[in-house]
Amino acid sequence: MRNPLAPQWLVPAKDLNIVDARIWPRTATRDSQGELQIGGVGARELVRRHGSPLYVIDQEDFEARLLAAKRAFGDAAQKHGTSAKVYYASKALLTTEVVRWVDQAGLSVDVSTGGELAVALAAGIPGERIGLHGNNKSLVEIGRAISADVGVIVIDSELEIERIASVATAQGKTQAVRLRVNSGVHAHTHEYLATAREDQKFGIATSDVADLVAKIRSHSHLRFLGLHSHIGSQIFVVDGFIAAAERLLELHAQLLSGGDVPELNLGGGFGISYTEADHPMPLSEMAERIVSAVAAKCEELGISIPKLAFEPGRVIAGPAGVTLYSVGTIKDVQVTEGQSPATRKYVSVDGGMSDNARPALYEAEYSVALASRSSSATGALVRVVGKHCESGDIVVRNDYLPSDVAVNDLLAVAATGAYCFSLSSNYNFLTRPAVVAVKASGTKVLVRAETEQDLLSRDAGYKQGKAG
Ligand SMILES: Cc1ncc(COP(=O)(O)O)c(C=O)c1O
Repeated sequence: MRNPLAPQWLVPAKDLNIVDARIWPRTATRDSQGELQIGGVGARELVRRHGSPLYVIDQEDFEARLLAAKRAFGDAAQKHGTSAKVYYASKALLTTEVVRWVDQAGLSVDVSTGGELAVALAAGIPGERIGLHGNNKSLVEIGRAISADVGVIVIDSELEIERIASVATAQGKTQAVRLRVNSGVHAHTHEYLATAREDQKFGIATSDVADLVAKIRSHSHLRFLGLHSHIGSQIFVVDGFIAAAERLLELHAQLLSGGDVPELNLGGGFGISYTEADHPMPLSEMAERIVSAVAAKCEELGISIPKLAFEPGRVIAGPAGVTLYSVGTIKDVQVTEGQSPATRKYVSVDGGMSDNARPALYEAEYSVALASRSSSATGALVRVVGKHCESGDIVVRNDYLPSDVAVNDLLAVAATGAYCFSLSSNYNFLTRPAVVAVKASGTKVLVRAETEQDLLSRDAGYKQGKAG
């Protein structure tokens, strides 16, 4: 039966043991005993070996998603007589091994800081396949990027033109650059907003584009590749991408009178299903609709279609990841909402906002399942919460779990591959979980679990072996 505290979109599943392929990684399944398996490894075995909480990445799913993204944009571009470069937005999930998967799949990688650049370079991906973003790149970061021969740097403000040109000149190199434009289009899930200028820090105003591109072109050590826009994230519908592309192409067409503009980068932001209520447009359809709108606009403007670039992150990493937690305490909380008193079961796990900040940051919704066993008990509305000293420390705000969920059960939270490990913290001095990749050929630790010794080792007042 529906719990009145549940949001309208949450429909109790008839069978809470079903692993819905729209939300869970492609190899996730239950074995004959009912235990959740990912990459052929059981949840209990994973936790026994690597601890709890644990980030689990389905490597086969991740790699398939890399190839699918490359194919979706590549095929759409080819159909319209151009090409598309796909950068994996590494902020979603970054480890050296992940960059190797990206490299092997033939994608490029987008980084936003010196730290992300260091990881990409440590993985051995060629510099030319790296794009550097960021709205406040330091001279040191720019210097490291140029000396690593990164393929492109995305300029985010007028100040950066001189900064990048001076470093390129000092190193005797010519650096390819894009200019990030604040298109005025902001999109999130179902809606988009188109204003003259969106009120945020990224990019430059459309009215400044001509002057700044002229400035870039005046520097012999800079090579202008084209414009860039990124309109938001977790976007389900194509309209915002099309609106931004059309705005950028009008500027792009004007710039052609002053020189070559070989490329156009339309960023990332493609949405995924976190719950059964999420219905994003499939990526291949999204790619086809965007590229055909680009082609139509180019025809209207009488220009040839530029080479395209895209930067998907979440749509590759998100669905491939699952977080495993152990249940510690359980509380039934009576709530009176309007006329009807109802119960919400609070299930506390051994992690929380330190391993998944998204519910606290964006009120993000997730789906949860019993991982260590199946159950035929009826559904209970649960809120899965962490162990931090914040009432907003929520992992799964609304879902149903079997009502016999018990202490020491393992829970799995779906679609945590993107922006969970990357946004993790040590709040309350919790140690960050390991990240493991599972595949039929074996399990690989991508990042080991942190220890309390790791945390103490940065404390300058800590004297090993002595209390106080
Ligand atoms: C410039 C840029 N490109 C790409 C992305 C990736 O977005 P997503 O993971 O939603 O695809 C982001 C995310 O913030 C971004 O800022």
